Amino acid sequence: MGNDLLKGKRGIVFGALNDMSIAWKVAERAVEEGAIITLSNTPLAVRMGTTNELAEKLNAKLIPADATSVEDLEQVFAQSMEALGGKIDFVLHSIGMSPNVRKKRTYDDLDYDMLTATLDISAISFHKMLQVAKKMNAINEYGSVVALSYMAAQRTVFGYNDMADAKSILESIARSFGYIYGREHNVRVNTISQSPTVTTAGSGVKGMEGLLDFSERMSPLGNATAAECADYCVVMFSDLTRKVTMQNLYHDGGFSSMAMSYRAMEQYNKSFEDFRDENGKIIYG
Ligand SMILES: NC(=O)c1ccc[n+]([C@@H]2O[C@H](COP(=O)([O-])OP(=O)(O)OC[C@H]3O[C@@H](n4cnc5c(N)ncnc54)[C@H](O)[C@@H]3O)[C@@H](O)[C@H]2O)c1
Repeated sequence: MGNDLLKGKRGIVFGALNDMSIAWKVAERAVEEGAIITLSNTPLAVRMGTTNELAEKLNAKLIPADATSVEDLEQVFAQSMEALGGKIDFVLHSIGMSPNVRKKRTYDDLDYDMLTATLDISAISFHKMLQVAKKMNAINEYGSVVALSYMAAQRTVFGYNDMADAKSILESIARSFGYIYGREHNVRVNTISQSPTVTTAGSGVKGMEGLLDFSERMSPLGNATAAECADYCVVMFSDLTRKVTMQNLYHDGGFSSMAMSYRAMEQYNKSFEDFRDENGKIIYG
């Protein structure tokens, strides 16, 4: 049941691939709260995924675009303003992909062309989105732009690989662009740092199952789900947060403030032993 938090607002949601995607849940919640939206994903994802079903269900125009292409992004904003009948009030950047992770290259054996692709897709695309929107004057005063991040931007997480670098840049872009966009047009720019979540992108992370379980137990409130992330995004798109900008907002059940819990200490005392590979070498990673 909606509360009309986004009544009369126009939004663009990037990155809904299937019904596990965080962006999928955000799109559904935004419409439930009274928004009208467009959806965008890569031409390949549009062909292979189920985004079409979501577009039909929400009566939303689906605009294929590679978020690393400035021309494609210009099309998304132009077509969205036309389809929705005016300037945009909120944008969700829910985009991430690492070819190094996909190809199982470890962080001390990165392929640098792949690193460039990781950063372009997962971070620089956010700058491109903001720059295109600002040049086209496509976002209304007090509009809200949110990108999804992860705590590996601040703290090292085994297996997160070059996506950690991408998330650091993503959060920095929110601050640097948020300053300019806020000062000139009162547009807000933030990142939400979400708990590990079971999705297509999430399942690419090495050791994801263990990570989910660990953070679930370590977080006083447990992991935040994709649906709960959608609730938070809606609040960030709404007029209830008009003075929140340039922030990285943790949405992780308290995990990021924890160092040691009673349960983790008990478990640690029970099971401590060196981890060795098949050659007897200690694994520190
Ligand atoms: N799943 C998690 O554990 C988790 C935790 C914190 C943050 N996040 C972040 O949430 C966001 C959404 O990921 P998700 O977990 O919902 O997974 P997902 O796989 O459902 O979404 C990732 C999306 O990125 C899109 N994408 C990839 N390359 C693109 C490109 N060049 N142009 C446009 N779109 C492109 C994919 O098509 C897909 O829709 C990502 O930024 C991810 O890093 C995820």
